[in-house]
Amino acid sequence: MSTTGSSERVTYTNILVERQDVFATVTIDRPKVLNALSHATRAELSQAMSELGSEQGVRAIIVTGSGQKAFSSGADIAELEALETAQEGFEHSRRSHELLFKLHALSKPVIMAVNGYALGGGCELALAGDIILASENAQFGLPELNLGIIPGFGGTQRLPRLIGRTRALEIILTGRRLRAPEALEMGLVNRVVPLDELLATAEGIARTIAEKAPLAVALAKQALYDGLESSPRSGCEAEMAYFGLAVGTADRREGTSAFLAKRAPEWQGK
Ligand code: COA
Repeated sequence: MSTTGSSERVTYTNILVERQDVFATVTIDRPKVLNALSHATRAELSQAMSELGSEQGVRAIIVTGSGQKAFSSGADIAELEALETAQEGFEHSRRSHELLFKLHALSKPVIMAVNGYALGGGCELALAGDIILASENAQFGLPELNLGIIPGFGGTQRLPRLIGRTRALEIILTGRRLRAPEALEMGLVNRVVPLDELLATAEGIARTIAEKAPLAVALAKQALYDGLESSPRSGCEAEMAYFGLAVGTADRREGTSAFLAKRAPEWQGK
């Protein structure tokens, strides 16, 4: 990872970052190890999210894996092998969690386009997406117990909240992999599409979201995550506050008056 002088844009070695008109695509690019998430890869993902998070023109972020076989095979097992102490393990997990907290805090949606294996940390990264799409060949699993560890990238927390306690425990305790149709049936993913339609589907969703008022998108996402982390009543109180903030924006005035005037709204992000 390094910065280029003129544009101040970061150059990455483990990921690719491509900007299109209203969205950006981040590709985990270590196909020889099935896009395993080394420390450096996670640091680059974190840096890319900060960078794209602050770019106004980027209204949604798509995350996918290089090649046709894997989204990500999880933590780099060669690096796990080098961990010695409980403190090192804690730090490894803490740094991973920081990346996922950052995804949830972004004011724009993150769409996971899961194009093959999503195992261990790769599955947990996918679970932290706002919208999760799977190709027909995708497989999800948390095989950490096979290595003598436990999921440390949010799996023990996000999976039960998504698919329920007993199903999550079975997946974690047995390490069995779910193919895409089963993941869909359980509500782990939003949609399953053929591999060659995966990115186009993600891009279509990104473009649809980009048509909405940017602040409303950010507030809706924030209200949802705030609510999931609190009691139903405090969640509703958070919604009231965010609803109020949305009503106070120039874009809300534009949205309601454009509807009444039967014209398309022009958002300013204010
Ligand atoms: N970390 C580091 N290297 C990994 C890796 C990981 N998480 N996952 C795969 N690789 C490497 C393999 O060691 C292999 O390297 P090699 O070509 O030098 O031998 C290469 O990627 C290809 O993987 P391979 O196992 O040969 O492919 P496969 O098609 O037979 O199996 C998987 C695919 C995903 C089922 C298998 O690679 C696997 O189980 N990976 C580990 C998944 C895991 O436990 N993740 C959780 C980590 S906490």
